[in-house]
Amino acid sequence: MERQIKRARDMIARATTVAAFSGAGISAESGIATFRDSETHALWKRFDPLKLASPEGFIEDPETVIDWYNWRREQLSEVSPNGGHLAFARYPDLVQITQNVDDLLERAGVNSDHIYHLHGTITKDRCHSRCGYEETVDLATAPGLRHCPHCNAFMRPALVWFGEPLPEAVWHKAEVLCSRINCLLVVGTSASVYPAAGLIEIAKSSGAHIIIINTQSSGVSDLADVEIIGRSGELLPLLLEGLSLSSY
Ligand code: OAD
Repeated sequence: MERQIKRARDMIARATTVAAFSGAGISAESGIATFRDSETHALWKRFDPLKLASPEGFIEDPETVIDWYNWRREQLSEVSPNGGHLAFARYPDLVQITQNVDDLLERAGVNSDHIYHLHGTITKDRCHSRCGYEETVDLATAPGLRHCPHCNAFMRPALVWFGEPLPEAVWHKAEVLCSRINCLLVVGTSASVYPAAGLIEIAKSSGAHIIIINTQSSGVSDLADVEIIGRSGELLPLLLEGLSLSSY
């Protein structure tokens, strides 16, 4: 492990441009369940993504879907950023590409302009029919199923469900960045959901070094120049201590 950390630190120190790409694992030590994991409490082991994370599931039973997201929102309101989020927050010029819909990077102090939320955010609701109306919600007391005050369609969390496109501008920025950086830190993701996971391949094929931190090997382990197996809340502070990191 120490050897892997040293190799990764040397790679980061040599890189002129670095970016981070994270998934649910970075928030696990804060107490937020991952989706796919060896852990039994992983969300997609307990709940059906087609019922809770698809437009079809929402049309079929909107109340259940909203209640489920409000349950997750309440949990999020009760937790705090962990050592991984805080380690990243020390680098204001490091872009954070994340699949996470939580706001723990923001709460750790990362500049929100530098966080690319590929899958949207759970901190807002938007109109399901895309009339353009959206509202920030209070995580602890988010409202139940309701209608858009502009067009009367249902309101829903402003995140991306299976079968829906990623926010175009965010995706474009992430794709461009991954094709020009020297090093990508891939943290806490199973890298099984596309197109997001494809960013790792874009970075690799553009010549970037890939450093992976995960508690287990993942579908992209073979792309790693260095893979460090362990918890990101503990490893990121050790990995980044004293280095300078920028995406520009
Ligand atoms: P997953 O739940 O698929 O993967 C989480 C990864 O984190 C797993 O590979 C774990 O081994 C790893 N992990 C767990 N605890 C960790 C820790 N403390 N430190 C480091 N790694 C740890 O999450 P994602 O890859 O983010 O979509 O999933 C991708 C998308 O699938 C999510 O964005 C979500 C889901 O459906 C939406 O919410 C729209």
